[in-house]
Amino acid sequence: MKDKAEVFAAAGPNTRLAHAGNDPADFFGFVNPPVVHASTVLFPDAATMEKRAQKYSYGTRGTPTTDALCAAIDELEGSAGTILVPSGLAAVTVPFLAFLSAGDHALVVDSVYSPTRHFCDTMLTRLGVTVEYYDPAIGAGISTLMKPNTKLVHLEAPGSNTFEMQDVRAIADAAHQGGAVVTLDNTWATPLYFRPLDHGVDISIHAATKYPSGHSDILMGTVSANARHWQRLWDGNFALGICGSPDDSYQILRGLRTMGLRLERHQESALRLAEWLEGLDDVARVLHPALPSFPGHELWKRDFKGASGIFSFVLQGGSPDRFKAKAHAFLDALRIFGLGYSWGGYESLAVHVNLSDRKICTAPKEGPVMRLQIGLEDIADIRADVERGLAAARAE
Ligand SMILES: Cc1ncc(COP(=O)(O)O)c(C=O)c1O
Repeated sequence: MKDKAEVFAAAGPNTRLAHAGNDPADFFGFVNPPVVHASTVLFPDAATMEKRAQKYSYGTRGTPTTDALCAAIDELEGSAGTILVPSGLAAVTVPFLAFLSAGDHALVVDSVYSPTRHFCDTMLTRLGVTVEYYDPAIGAGISTLMKPNTKLVHLEAPGSNTFEMQDVRAIADAAHQGGAVVTLDNTWATPLYFRPLDHGVDISIHAATKYPSGHSDILMGTVSANARHWQRLWDGNFALGICGSPDDSYQILRGLRTMGLRLERHQESALRLAEWLEGLDDVARVLHPALPSFPGHELWKRDFKGASGIFSFVLQGGSPDRFKAKAHAFLDALRIFGLGYSWGGYESLAVHVNLSDRKICTAPKEGPVMRLQIGLEDIADIRADVERGLAAARAE
């Protein structure tokens, strides 16, 4: 008879999602872990207290609820340890603070999530770190940008809003040769479709706000490290006093159970819509890594097991002074899509993308970039709504 852990390690993604994290036997057989609300933990005697010689010692250092979620994420990511933080943005800023010091140089991909760039250009710069942005297509050429003081290389694959792919292995290898830690924002793919640590990355970052939550009602970030970098990540987080709340941790663990099924639907609907959009005269280009026409498609095919439900398209915009009016006409005609900035939830969302902070991956010339988060609604209704938007943009 095979051991239970061995059976689950060899099982399919939905089987693992259904059983990852807590062991029901640890809490009277209840299938789900308890939601432990805690600051204080009591010790049985002074000697135990002095040495903190028991599993739990204070709420910020973990509870059975947060441990269950961290264990589930570690199983999915193949990581040595995971910390929970209150948002996806904090999941980027905390490891940057944990690994960078005044005088260091950091390389950050130009197609990065815009608030990550804001953090780099403001607080990180004020703390004495120099940040340089690089082309996502750089691959092994990143070695030419490495300096003796380059301590961190940050990737996001695919990139935010324009979805450029990166050669993760080539960049990670070059960064390691120069002695830098490699971080990657893996929110788009989730660990089901890409496992960064298997491709040379040291730290995998997620806005669990998106697909793990799945219902647009929770903010949380997770940061998972390989064995070499786990202690320093944990120390940095401990020094900052950041932790995940028990209720949110419970909800994210709950969300993970159905994430695989939801992602299958997000993936299928988004790809069908992207393929349809690609054939329309109203559309200049579709930015979706799973489309063979997309420049980073070969990298996506080589490294990823799937695509999630968010992509962009470039609307035929006419002259640049009409771009905004056309984008707004498209958005205002939508009846099913909400106008909202997040993604990963059950409902479709659309946004006119602002690329004004880009230095290398600048805005397309053909027209405005419209980002679509494809929800779990019926594809025929989603498509009819996009048709409404396109008709309004055409008439503008
Ligand atoms: C790629 C990426 N990373 C991080 C975040 C930040 O997540 P949160 O909204 O939880 O701060 C987002 C949010 O949109 C994102 O798109």
